[in-house]
Amino acid sequence: MCGIFGYVGDRQATPLLLEGLQRLEYRGYDSAGIATVDDRRRLDVRKATGKLANLIGVVQQAPLAGTVGIGHTRWATHGEPNDTNAHPHLGGSGKVVVVHNGIVENYQELKDNLIARGHRFDSATDSEVIPHLIEDLLDQGKPFPEAVRLAALQLKGAHAIAGLHADTPNAIVALRIGNAGGVVVGHGPGECYVSSDLPALVSLTPTVTSLAPGQMAVVRANGCDISTLSGERVPLQKQTMASNPIVAAKGGYRHFMLKEIMEQPEVAMSALRGRLAFDPGSVTLGEVPFTPDVIRSIARVVLLGMGTSLHATQLGARFIERLARLPASAENAAEFRYRDPVVDKDTLVVAITQSGETADTLEALNEARRHGALTLAICNVPGSQVTRIAHGTMLMHAGPEIGVASTKAFTNSLVCLLLLAGHLGATRGHLRDEAVRDLVDTIARMPGLMGQALEMNATAFGPLAAEYARYRRFLFIGRGLLEPIAREGALKFKEVSYIHAEGMAAAELKHGPIALVDPETPVVAIALKDALYEKMVGNIHAVRARKGPVLAIATVGDEIIAEHANHVLWVPAAPPLLAPMVATIPLQLFAYHTAVYCGSDVDQPRNLAKSVTVE
Ligand code: F6R
Repeated sequence: MCGIFGYVGDRQATPLLLEGLQRLEYRGYDSAGIATVDDRRRLDVRKATGKLANLIGVVQQAPLAGTVGIGHTRWATHGEPNDTNAHPHLGGSGKVVVVHNGIVENYQELKDNLIARGHRFDSATDSEVIPHLIEDLLDQGKPFPEAVRLAALQLKGAHAIAGLHADTPNAIVALRIGNAGGVVVGHGPGECYVSSDLPALVSLTPTVTSLAPGQMAVVRANGCDISTLSGERVPLQKQTMASNPIVAAKGGYRHFMLKEIMEQPEVAMSALRGRLAFDPGSVTLGEVPFTPDVIRSIARVVLLGMGTSLHATQLGARFIERLARLPASAENAAEFRYRDPVVDKDTLVVAITQSGETADTLEALNEARRHGALTLAICNVPGSQVTRIAHGTMLMHAGPEIGVASTKAFTNSLVCLLLLAGHLGATRGHLRDEAVRDLVDTIARMPGLMGQALEMNATAFGPLAAEYARYRRFLFIGRGLLEPIAREGALKFKEVSYIHAEGMAAAELKHGPIALVDPETPVVAIALKDALYEKMVGNIHAVRARKGPVLAIATVGDEIIAEHANHVLWVPAAPPLLAPMVATIPLQLFAYHTAVYCGSDVDQPRNLAKSVTVE
């Protein structure tokens, strides 16, 4: 998760850029940089590794002039944090500069092509291909905004980008592809700003325009032109931001839950920060404090959690079995702690907890330590209790989760568990170099696929909520890696809509729960095109034969499911290891929209608390 800020107007840009970056520093702080174009069309860049204070020092030593500029705070995903890898990135001519938030999934292919055409690269980042692509198009005679647009169309993945061109002064081009974080244009008197989020604009202007995925803006002092990335003009719509800080913190969304659902591709990227390397492929988890010899001595893994975090453990166990071939089990922490469990020094016990304060999980982890186990926490709150109990902590990096129903912390737990499974598999020699490389390439596709899942079905949820809110009980079914997702889908649905829902393995249906199926009991079936697809189609037939309404989560374009289910929510085709994260998204949105339709208090559902610090 990186922060982007831009300014164009008649004031000196540098102080405004630094202030803007200060407000965005929570998004990343391993390096920062700014670029300006002065009135003699000179483009200048300053960068510094570490916190923003270092950049401020650099700028004081060597000030920049100019009334237009862009800046960036970085959370490294590609290439270690250093001055060369810090943004902004220049193209070879020194006339184009770009700041970027996202992962260029096809960067190796793009870079190889550019190198073959004579481009030279300085950094180890994926982002540097972007200014080079733009320069290539400028050399072909395209105007700057058009060159940015055409370059953007070549990028795979989800991105937020802002760029400057020395020969197109007084304009910033900014764009958004998928959901790699927002791009908001702020409109001030005779000046405009570009920012990753609304809170960074609160003190500057209440008047804003948020770019939708697939839109770009050419921003000038007196306003901006918006178009789609396919080149069609979009009428400019200005909104007035609320001055209430809570409303502002919701970033324009009606509820924190929705904001947090929408943030998932971006925070998934944060969880990958500094943990994935592409050349050669590797997963590096500095936070896992066990030597390779200790990791090789682990005989089994036990994962502990409660509620949504328990569902994450169920997937974690499957990831670890697949990628590390280690026996792994998922345990309800409250049961584990009272069972006198069989764990010892050869057992790795992993506790998953968003808050890091859940009493049952903390006590279970203490119990594991008393038995001499190796312990690791996966947690979202730095410094929370669990970090003081475990031998090591992997932070989820999901950012504060305010909605009581956990959404982005769930998917970021899955990201962390996938990385952990890869790390264990590689260290134990189960995953060879080629397999690690494939895994890294697969994981890098995740934010992009999650972004696509967020964009699909956009108009479907309102009518579906109206259709389904009248039922009083639901069954959610899934198989394989999607079984825990069925359970999580049901939990999310019941806790915010207050309608009873039960999640289970689809095969379990015929062993009892099918007795419930009738025209008043909808079944939500996760039926993606995977190895168990045919079996899932069979389960859907069984439900339809008993007149149960079926809402399916299906792979886009699947006509068989479209024919058999009453309604379908589509997701993009995804590799099996990423399907759980992708399938989670429509289930969260279905729960959210149904709850809104029912009039429940979505962010603070009755009887619940964000941290359950009691037994
Ligand atoms: C459900 C939910 C809860 C929590 C559970 C554990 O949406 O949020 O089920 O997952 O209370 O909380 P943490 O992860 O903080 O240990």
